[in-house]
Amino acid sequence: MVIRCKAAVLWKPGAPLAIEEVEVAPPKAKEVRVKIVATGICGTDIKSMDTKEFSQFCPIIMGHEGAGIVESVGEEVSTVRTAGDKVIILCIPQCGECDTCLNSKSNICAEIKVSERHLTSEDTSRITCKGKFLHQYIATGTLSEYTVIREISVAKIDEGAPLEKVFVIGCGFATGYGAAINSAKVTPGSTCVVFGLGCVGLSVIIGCKAAGAARIIAVDINKDKFAKASSVGATFCVDPQDFDKSIEEFLIDMLNGGADFCFEVTGKTETVATALGSCHKDHGVCVIVGSLGSWSNITINSQLFISARILKASVLGDWKTKEELPKLVSDYMAKKFNLDRLITHTLTLSEVNEAVQLMKSGQCIRCVLLP
Ligand code: APR
Ligand code: ZN
Ligand code: ZN
Repeated sequence: MVIRCKAAVLWKPGAPLAIEEVEVAPPKAKEVRVKIVATGICGTDIKSMDTKEFSQFCPIIMGHEGAGIVESVGEEVSTVRTAGDKVIILCIPQCGECDTCLNSKSNICAEIKVSERHLTSEDTSRITCKGKFLHQYIATGTLSEYTVIREISVAKIDEGAPLEKVFVIGCGFATGYGAAINSAKVTPGSTCVVFGLGCVGLSVIIGCKAAGAARIIAVDINKDKFAKASSVGATFCVDPQDFDKSIEEFLIDMLNGGADFCFEVTGKTETVATALGSCHKDHGVCVIVGSLGSWSNITINSQLFISARILKASVLGDWKTKEELPKLVSDYMAKKFNLDRLITHTLTLSEVNEAVQLMKSGQCIRCVLLP
């Protein structure tokens, strides 16, 4: 049976999201129809929505951070039950069969090729609006009351999990926390610098602290973020606009040659060279966390590589999603970390444009959207 429900649709880049009635068809083989109970907007959604080249994927249901309940499943689905299982949406799938899934060193499953085209299956999705099929952002499209996604893009989680909290593990938290723990492999007693204190940057701080970092320097051009950064574990906060000298020089002086680990979490290409230059030249590791947005180039002076610095990227915290995100949910339930400080606002799906504005204004870390 087709479900009619509300979804937030982007008809063209730069336009506000339109709350539309959409038709969600039943899941086909290896697909799952999920009732989304809690979802958020992340910096990546906003960047895509404002990028002109993104028009090729419009109309599209945005959102990729979400949690919900299985409504129905298609044939050959075995990892979630017909109805009632709580699930987290995986914005990187884990098929379990491709070369990447069989290799312990990476999490970027080959099936992400479908996600890059923002489709559910090879050439279409199960959702229509006004007679047109809708793309689904990163093959998920969580800003909808119901969605149909592939079984490899959904994972069953603890039945007691509070969805209005754990949805943020689906992108923001997993991306930041995993960047520290898995990608950088932060070591006890080390010095870390985090550039950008949104949900992802704060989650990096939580990860650095959990890994035993001795000093965690938080950098942002918005000082309003400092209190929150300190509350999750930053030992020192700094605004680069406060000095005549560059932030790299400031950090190299302060940290006796530079940091052991630096994280670029502003989502901007300009800060990559800054973060790399703030690493210790002999052994510093710089991680580009999350997406810088496609269609842009990074400029780095080659002088920075007359050194042993390491520059690496990290997508969704290097987690093998289907296997490991449910474990993160269980770790949250076991109080190994706290998500409360990341979720600053609560609105309904119909108020999604307000949530976008709150994010753009810098007042909001994460706004949870409930039905
Ligand atoms: N130096 C330091 N901080 C900066 C700078 C800069 N030049 N420019 C922006 N920032 C800060 C912003 O003030 C903000 O606090 O970076 C933070 C970015 O946070 P959000 O926009 O809330 O983004 P978030 O959801 O945390 O994601 C971070 O990672 O995955 C990517 O695409 C995602 O761009 C996003 C980024
Ligand atoms: Zn795979
Ligand atoms: Zn995201």
